[in-house]
Amino acid sequence: MGAPAFPAPADLRHWPLAELQAAAAAAWPGMALQVVDEIDSTNTELMRRARAGDEAPTVLVAERQTAGRGRLGRQWHSEAGASLTFSIGVPLQPANWAGLSLAVGLSLAESLHPTIGLKWPNDLWWRDRKLGGILIETLGTGAPRRAIVGVGINVGAPPPSAPELRTPATSLHEAVGPVQAPDVLLQVLPPLLRALAAFEQQGFAPLRERFHTRDVLRGRAVQLADGAQGSALGVDGEGVLWVQTAAGVHSIASGEVSVRPRAG
Ligand code: BTN
Repeated sequence: MGAPAFPAPADLRHWPLAELQAAAAAAWPGMALQVVDEIDSTNTELMRRARAGDEAPTVLVAERQTAGRGRLGRQWHSEAGASLTFSIGVPLQPANWAGLSLAVGLSLAESLHPTIGLKWPNDLWWRDRKLGGILIETLGTGAPRRAIVGVGINVGAPPPSAPELRTPATSLHEAVGPVQAPDVLLQVLPPLLRALAAFEQQGFAPLRERFHTRDVLRGRAVQLADGAQGSALGVDGEGVLWVQTAAGVHSIASGEVSVRPRAG
């Protein structure tokens, strides 16, 4: 039997901590970076810290999550050594929060590979399979608010297709070849931190055309949450998805739409 293609890192020596820390701080002044071997959820932990008054800008990376969370109350399954799971906690005060999750997805897709698409609002897709997801949570009501941006990317073998997975999973291994989570983090983190800073200043509108080029829904037959069917028209400058149905044009600001299988 040959060695597994993606051995689970035995310890944190697999992470180029000094390089990651320097890259993070260069992209976002004062950014701290921490890698832990196991935690319930990096988002949950940064929310706990924020509630306890910790306001330091932080990137928290976990090799394993025991209670990873996805959007809409779902679970997020990931395998140690076969996935990249991290969260960024930063103070943000954009004039308009609309489209933040799309901006995050766009930054990740652009850092990863030209063939990686975006399924509104913020899934990373490759060949109609899910490669990664984003969970954004905010805390506080004033300005700035605390934003927790959680990212999960399948790096090695995709997680087994659990029944609750609405879309089959894929991985960077399948999409771009053999890569390791620490290298992927080094690749995506600095542009993502710069994208968060740019979003705070400019919002989503300047990114709309770039989102269009990776939008896997645009022109596709989709089904809305209420069961209505239509054709996705694309997103506007606030990241709102527009869908043409028999009853007219619908705008969808949050939630989810599903792709209807191609005929034939
Ligand atoms: C989704 O597609 O539903 C979003 C998945 C987000 C998963 C990441 S993994 C790191 C961070 N911690 C979590 O518990 N969730 C996010």
